[in-house]
Amino acid sequence: MCGIVGYSGRRPAAPLLFAGLQKLEYRGYDSAGIALLAPDGIHLEKNAGRDGVMALEVLGGKIDRLPAAAIAGIGHTRWATHGRPTDINAHPHLDASGEFAVVHNGIIENYLPLRERLRAAGYVFRSETDSEVAAHLLASHYSGDLAAALRGVLAEIEGSFALVVMSARHPGQLAAARRNAPLIVGAGAEGEFFIASDIPAVLKETRDIYVLEDGEMVVVADGSVSFTDFAGNPRLKTITKVTWDAVAAEKAGYEHFMLKEIDEQPQALRDTLSGRAAKAGTIDLGIGADFFAGVSRVAFVGCGTAYHAGLVGRELLERWARLPAETAVASEFRYRQPLLDEHTLVVAVSQSGETADTLAALREAKKEGARVLAVTNVVGSTAAREADETLFTWAGPEIAVASTKAYTTQLEIMALLAMFLAKERGQLPAERVAALLEEMRTLPAKIEDILARRERLRELALPLSRTADAFFIGRGLDWAVALEGALKLKEISYIHAEAYAAGELKHGALALVTEETPVIVLATQQALYEKTLSNVEEVKARNGRVLAVVRPDNKELAAAADDTFLLPQISDELAPIAAIVPLQLIAYYTAVRRGNHVDKPRNLAKTVTTE
Ligand code: F6R
Repeated sequence: MCGIVGYSGRRPAAPLLFAGLQKLEYRGYDSAGIALLAPDGIHLEKNAGRDGVMALEVLGGKIDRLPAAAIAGIGHTRWATHGRPTDINAHPHLDASGEFAVVHNGIIENYLPLRERLRAAGYVFRSETDSEVAAHLLASHYSGDLAAALRGVLAEIEGSFALVVMSARHPGQLAAARRNAPLIVGAGAEGEFFIASDIPAVLKETRDIYVLEDGEMVVVADGSVSFTDFAGNPRLKTITKVTWDAVAAEKAGYEHFMLKEIDEQPQALRDTLSGRAAKAGTIDLGIGADFFAGVSRVAFVGCGTAYHAGLVGRELLERWARLPAETAVASEFRYRQPLLDEHTLVVAVSQSGETADTLAALREAKKEGARVLAVTNVVGSTAAREADETLFTWAGPEIAVASTKAYTTQLEIMALLAMFLAKERGQLPAERVAALLEEMRTLPAKIEDILARRERLRELALPLSRTADAFFIGRGLDWAVALEGALKLKEISYIHAEAYAAGELKHGALALVTEETPVIVLATQQALYEKTLSNVEEVKARNGRVLAVVRPDNKELAAAADDTFLLPQISDELAPIAAIVPLQLIAYYTAVRRGNHVDKPRNLAKTVTTE
C-alpha cells in the first residue's frame, strides 16, 4: 500500500512527480523518493522522515538537487512492509550499476530465495526490502530491451505488485506491470504519459485514464503508449474519462474511506497471509521458535477493536494450542499489577502501534520480565520498536477512524499465531494445519462474496437507522465478533449498541428487549448452535426483532429470525474473519442513512496517544 507515480513527456519531471506524490501521501508516508532519467544517467533522492518532519516534506527540500531538465522519472511514497522506514529502504531502488531503477507496491512473496540466488551470483543488496530484488533481477534479465527485461522479472516474482521500471539506457522510456495492486496510465497533453498507482496522482494533469488489469503491462516512450499481457501479446485498451473531483479521487470514487477500506479487506488478507503460509502446511512467522520456548501463559492486550481481536486470539490459542491465555483491556492491565514473568508472552495488539495505554501495558510487561510480541500495522511504530518481536498486519494505511481492515488482518495474525504455537506444542496435527491454511487462502474470495451482497445489507440497515438501542449476541467466538459489531455500530451511527454473550442475556438485559429492539444474532459456531437457537427463541418470545447472521445450514435459526444474512460456509475458528464483514457494512449504511460523519465520528480520534 504505497503510492507510485511516473512521468515521461516534455516537461521537467521532478515537480510533476513531486506534486503527484503529494496527492498520494495518504497511501503511505514513512519514506519517499524520486529517480530521474537524465542524459548522464539516473539521479536519485530518497529519504525517510526526519525529526518529526514528514518524509515527503524532507524530499521536497532536496528537489532542486535533481536535474531540472530531466523529462522522465519515477517516484514513490512508502508504507513500509518489508524493512523499516529508513532512507536506504525508501524507493526507488537501483541495481548495483545504477542503470536501472524500480518502484514497487505490494509484496514479492518469493524475495528470499530470489535474493539468495542473486547474492550468490554476486549482486550486492543495500536495503532490507523485498522490492530491491526487482531492480537486480531487471539488470540480470536485460539484453537491450527494457520491456523484455521486465517480462523476465515478471516470470520470476510471486505475490502482488505494481512495478514501474526505467533504465539509463532508454531515455524517456518507462515500463510497468501489475498483479493484485492498482496501476493506471494517464494520457496528458502532446504525448506525455503518467503512470500511477492511483488516479489522484495525475488528476491535476489529465482526466484521460487507462486502467491496467491484472496481468497487463505498459510501455510509454517518445509520446507513444503500448499495452501487452505478461507474455508480450498486444492488449487493446480504451481511455476512461474520470469525472470525480480530487477529494472523491483520493477515495478512489468511494464516498467514504471506511467503505473503501471495507472493500480492501480481501487484498489486505491476501497480503497479510503472503509469505507466511506455505502450501505444505508450514507457517513462517519470521520469528524463531526459540522466542516462544518455555512460554506457559499468554496475555493479549489492546484497546477497542484491537482488544476484540485479542479476544479471538485467546480463544484460538486455548482451543488449538491448549495454552492458558487471557485478554485484557490495556488501560486496565497496566494498573492491575498483573502476574508476569519470563514464561509469560504478552501480545500487544495495536493498528497504529502508538496507542498510549497499549504502549504502557507493553512497557509494564517488559519491566516485569515478560516477552513482548507486538501485532501492528505500522512498521517503525513505537510498539514495533519496543517489542521483542513484531508481527505486522499488511493492511495498508487505515484512514477511517472506525477500524475495519486492520481488525480482519489482526484476526488472521491471531489464527496464524495460534496455529503456529499449536504445531510447536504438538497439539494440532499437520494435516489439520494444512487444511486450515488452505481455508485461509479461500477467505478473500468468501469475503468478496459477502461484499457483493451489500445491497441486502443496506436494506437490513434501514430499520436499525431508526432505533435508539440494539443488542448483538453470540456465543464463543461469535460473542467476540458481536462485541466488535456493536462497537462499529455505536462509534459511527451513535446508536447505543450492546454486545452480550447470548446465554447471559436472560440474566438481566432481556428486560430491555421489546418489539422496538433489534437483536443481531451471530451463529457461526456449530458446537453452540442449538444453544444460540434457544436464545433466539427467548428474544422472539419478548417480541424482539431478530436479524440472524448465519451459515447456510442453520435453517431453524434462519426460520426463527425476522431477517437473515447468510455467510459463506466456513469453519468455526475462521468464521470471525468473515462474520464481522456484514456487521461493518450494516454499521456503515446505518451511519450514512443517519447523515453522520462516517470517517471522522464525533469525539473520536484515529490514534489515541493520551491515557
Ligand atoms: C474502533 C477503533 C478503536 C481502536 C483503538 C485502538 O474502530 O478504531 O477502538 O481500535 O483506539 O487503536 P490501535 O489499534 O491503533 O491501538
